[in-house]
Amino acid sequence: MVGVNAATLAGNETDKLALLAIKAMIIQDPLNITSSWNESLHFCHWQGVSCSTRHERVTQLNLSSQKLSGYISTSIGNLSFLRTFDLSNNSFQGEIPNEIIHLFRLETLVLANNSLRGQIPSNISNCRNLRIFKVSRNKFTGKIPFGLSYLSKLVQLDLDSNNLEGNIPHSLGNISSLEVLRLGSNYLEGHVPPSLGQLKNLVTLIISLNNLSGEIPESMYNLSCLRVTSFSCNGFEGRLPLNIGLTLPNTEVFLVAANNFSGSIPISFSNASNLWRLELSRNKFSGGVPPIFKNLKKLTWLRIDINDLGTGKANDLSFIDSLTNCSILRVLYLDECNFGGELPTSMVNLSLQLQIFSVESNKLSGCIPHDIGNLINLNALNLHRNQLVGTIPTTIGKLYKLQEAGFGSNELSGQIPSTFGNLTLLRRLWLEENNFQGSIPSSLGNCQNLELLHLYGNFLNGTIPREVIGLKYLSLSLNLSRNNLSGSLPSEVGKMKFLVELDLSQNQLSGNIPNSLGDCINLVCLYIDHNSFEGEIPKSLSLLKVIEVMDLSHNNLFGHIPKDFANLTFLGKLNLSFNDLDGEVPVTGVFSNISAISIAGNEKLCGGIPEINSNANLKATNGFSNANLIGVGSFGSVYKGNLESNQASVAVKVFNLERRGASKSFMAECETLRNTRHRNLVRIVTACSSVDYQGNDFMALVYEFMPNGSLENWLHPQSGSEGRGKLTLLQKLNIVIDVASALDYLHNQIDMPIIHCDLKPSNILLDQDMAALIGDFGLSKIIVEDDDIEASNNSTSTIGIKGTIGYAAPEYGMGSEVSSRGDMYSFGILLLEIFTGKRPTDDSFIDGMNLNLFVKMALPERVMEIVDHDILLEVEEEKEASSSNHHNEPGQTRREKLIECLISILTIGVKCSEELPSNRIQIHEACKQLLKFKGTMLSLELLSCNQN
Ligand SMILES: *[C@@H]1O[C@H](CO)[C@@H](O)[C@H](O)[C@H]1NC(C)=O
Ligand SMILES: *[C@@H]1O[C@H](CO)[C@@H](O)[C@H](O)[C@H]1NC(C)=O
Ligand SMILES: *[C@@H]1O[C@H](CO)[C@@H](O)[C@H](O)[C@H]1NC(C)=O
Ligand SMILES: *[C@@H]1O[C@H](CO)[C@@H](O)[C@H](O)[C@H]1NC(C)=O
Ligand SMILES: *[C@@H]1O[C@H](CO)[C@@H](O)[C@H](O)[C@H]1NC(C)=O
Repeated sequence: MVGVNAATLAGNETDKLALLAIKAMIIQDPLNITSSWNESLHFCHWQGVSCSTRHERVTQLNLSSQKLSGYISTSIGNLSFLRTFDLSNNSFQGEIPNEIIHLFRLETLVLANNSLRGQIPSNISNCRNLRIFKVSRNKFTGKIPFGLSYLSKLVQLDLDSNNLEGNIPHSLGNISSLEVLRLGSNYLEGHVPPSLGQLKNLVTLIISLNNLSGEIPESMYNLSCLRVTSFSCNGFEGRLPLNIGLTLPNTEVFLVAANNFSGSIPISFSNASNLWRLELSRNKFSGGVPPIFKNLKKLTWLRIDINDLGTGKANDLSFIDSLTNCSILRVLYLDECNFGGELPTSMVNLSLQLQIFSVESNKLSGCIPHDIGNLINLNALNLHRNQLVGTIPTTIGKLYKLQEAGFGSNELSGQIPSTFGNLTLLRRLWLEENNFQGSIPSSLGNCQNLELLHLYGNFLNGTIPREVIGLKYLSLSLNLSRNNLSGSLPSEVGKMKFLVELDLSQNQLSGNIPNSLGDCINLVCLYIDHNSFEGEIPKSLSLLKVIEVMDLSHNNLFGHIPKDFANLTFLGKLNLSFNDLDGEVPVTGVFSNISAISIAGNEKLCGGIPEINSNANLKATNGFSNANLIGVGSFGSVYKGNLESNQASVAVKVFNLERRGASKSFMAECETLRNTRHRNLVRIVTACSSVDYQGNDFMALVYEFMPNGSLENWLHPQSGSEGRGKLTLLQKLNIVIDVASALDYLHNQIDMPIIHCDLKPSNILLDQDMAALIGDFGLSKIIVEDDDIEASNNSTSTIGIKGTIGYAAPEYGMGSEVSSRGDMYSFGILLLEIFTGKRPTDDSFIDGMNLNLFVKMALPERVMEIVDHDILLEVEEEKEASSSNHHNEPGQTRREKLIECLISILTIGVKCSEELPSNRIQIHEACKQLLKFKGTMLSLELLSCNQN
């Protein structure tokens, strides 16, 4: 039959039918390309079709970039004279029809940038005249077909950006005609076959963004025609050959970013005079940056960021001199390379074309060169996280194309130059965590394109300029917190309709909260806490429909809580504490979730937290009325109650099961307390886990009641709460020793060591005799062996919380596993807090200062300046006593001994709370020393008795 058909149809008829069949499989043709494919026109004149003049057979079908979608018809195989077939940049789906292999005259097959799937036909090698084969940016799967290697005329092979897997076939090295090989952005793995080193004509080699590994075969570096090479984003290792600039003299683009390459940057790159783009970022290159750029006149793009290149000492950036010859340099990234020394003044002579200059996160010191304003084409200037000092040169105002300016976390000082106001294209400005003083320049109000402004953690004073707070495109974040800003919040704040985060906390702002704040309808986070705002909370704040976090705490707000706050569906954190609010606390919405709201320190508030009705098991606490509420923790509430049987007081902790992790917390706590017995650990009377009358799961733990409450109440008595007395120096030491010995027990004396994970004053409870007991094991972890591996069935491992800010070890914030050293950090901080009276979250700890440093810097000479007031009085009394004491012993006075003791105790606290986990001492060592000082202290006490 086939033979009959072929015989009866002239060849040109076949082509016409095939084209019509192809048209029939095109589903969408918005540009009406194929409407011309009709009888009124000879098919050789249909759009996209070209024929041979003699035989009138189709030789080219080019439908590139015509917004077509549909499938490729199998009839493509009937266009037997086809030499070029190009469907690129459309939305064709389905597979490549296998019939394509009949096109033995085909030279160019371009199907790039469609949505084709399936495998690349393995017998594509039948199209033995193929010279260009491009199927990049589709969804092809499977392996690179072996058959490709038979295409002995292939010049360009582009399989980039598909879902291909497996190895790069060794046989590709046989296609000696190959000039372009692009295999990037697939899932290829294994090594690069050394056979690719036979592709002597190769000009472009792109294998980036795969899972390839191992070393690049030596032979690849001898492909002297190579102009474009990209090995980026794989797992390659090894060194670059020192003579690379000689063996690849024609290199124009050389990209090896994001691998594990090591060794030094070859000096021979200086020979590759056509090099315009070099990327060595994110590797382990070391040994400095050689000054090799002088002859690279075409260099446009240089990235060497995130390597180990610098020494952290002077002159690390001296290579910049050799870059000043590169007169068309546009992009320069030097971040995270441990570069030290100063920014060389020659940087202002870098190319006038420079658009990006980035040296973030190095150790650069000294000043920003005065003439930085010379670099008039800069779009992005990023000097974040260095140790730069001095002022920002006013010439910054000449960089009128600047869109991003990063100066955050340096030691810059002086005023913020008002010339920033000239930078009208500026989108993001980071000046946070420096020592800037004076006021916020109102000229910043000219930067109408600003979407982010970070000025937090400086010493800025004066008022917030209305021009700045009213920048209507501020959309990402306006953060002015931790300054000394005063005055009222201008009503222009309401102009920032796109703003997502507003942080004005920890200033001295006063006056009413403007109603217009409710116009910032995109706000997700609002922090205006720790100011002196007064008046009522504007009802308009309930218009902030997408708000998630609102902190109005520590102000002087009075009046009622707006009822409509209960309707803010996304509000998950509302802090109203320490104001002077009165009236009823709503009960629905955010207010129904005890862990989402904080209202402490508002003596006149009432109602609120719904009474939880209870079944018989719960009798102990009057059905948990608020009158018996003695504390609210992260996973639940603690109530005081009496057991009917023996009238003993107990504390009942009811877990808030709506809170994620609460039931795991319950299990962790049960498990921990079941396995432990130590006089300084709270004792559990019973645990209840059942279903309450509403059918909800109910979990509670019943502890022995601690009549003296928590250490928190003694260290930081709140106005209005029951007055606690003072703790004497000896009592403080006893408490520390109690905690230490409990911790020693948990870490070292039981079979399966336990990490508490949340040591802090509110979790230390004091019994009748002022002995300290550790409570709240809700976050604790049981550790197998000493090597800190979590027990496999550990019930708490998915709780995403590792303690409390200020007390949690810094490494936890970086994702470290919990360890006994983490508890040591919390213990150290706890000790320092007990003796200095300062919380680790004290407002004065800004700019890298923290409780550990605060104490460390004062020791030993200034110890009396940092101890808390009660200790000071106690020691000063001693002074009076001894000065009126006529039996002064020779040598040290009792006061001096006491001070020496204090120094030693605080030193232990410092050693426990070191930043680096490995620098922290262990609990048994701390315990031992503390007991020694207690001995000394007791002997002094004895002495004092004798003297009196
Ligand atoms: C095919 O070619 C023949 C002879 O060259 C011609 O008569 C006929 O019209 C052509 N048909 C088409 C559809 O072009
Ligand atoms: C393509 O060729 C095959 C076999 O030669 C034939 O059966 C088929 O009908 C042709 N298709 C068109 C659309 O001409
Ligand atoms: C057939 O093609 C001609 C030429 O492109 C065009 O003008 C005409 O509108 C087409 N006819 C139909 C029915 O689409
Ligand atoms: C920048 O702004 C100031 C006023 O703030 C103006 O005097 C100056 O001419 C402007 N231009 C430059 C390049 O600094
Ligand atoms: C701001 O602080 C500077 C010193 O840093 C001081 O000279 C100036 O008077 C202060 N201004 C206001 C408004 O407090």
